[in-house]
Amino acid sequence: MTSIDSVRAGYVEHGVEGYYARFGADYRNPHESAVREAIALAHARAPLPLGRILDLACGSGEAALALLDLGADDVTGCDPYTAAAWRARVDRPIVPHSFADIAAGALDARPRFDLIVCSFALHLAERSRLPGITWALARAGRALLILSPHKRPAIDVGFTQTDAFAHRRVRVRRFDSAI
Ligand SMILES: C[S@@+](CC[C@H](N)C(=O)[O-])C[C@H]1O[C@@H](n2cnc3c(N)ncnc32)[C@H](O)[C@@H]1O
Repeated sequence: MTSIDSVRAGYVEHGVEGYYARFGADYRNPHESAVREAIALAHARAPLPLGRILDLACGSGEAALALLDLGADDVTGCDPYTAAAWRARVDRPIVPHSFADIAAGALDARPRFDLIVCSFALHLAERSRLPGITWALARAGRALLILSPHKRPAIDVGFTQTDAFAHRRVRVRRFDSAI
């Protein structure tokens, strides 16, 4: 199983994108059970919109599988590096956009998503790119759910926070698009 320490060592050796380009096909989140429970808790606190959903930086579908368990059906993955890992576990489409692609408008032609979920990933985006990424996400989705092992990244552009809590050291923040 992938450990947090081996992932961190991999980031140092290869860089974040180099690490996932090399090992993304085998990616698994060692905190998957906490991610799943945290998403179920978020839904229990206030029902998540389970219509059209984008799992951004989807890895092997950790967030998507939790949402499918809650009754979602129309879930699309998005990740430049982990299509093989996603397809091994999730019988739903995946698109290959990077954070930079999204900031450049890669989602603009798609019908708007009811919910964009991003688990253990948005803090990996370059900080200087974040306003452009969240502005594009606010256009592309009506709501955003972020799970992370810490408080980063701050979401300052495009969204209004509506909930925040922690479960088993997974921090969950929920936002509505301000657009
Ligand atoms: C720690 S994993 C999280 C995966 C999954 N969401 C989860 O909860 O386990 C980080 C994810 O970010 C993706 N990623 C890395 N760099 C990226 C980039 N520049 N643009 C989009 N996704 C990226 C990786 O491919 C990987 O799936």
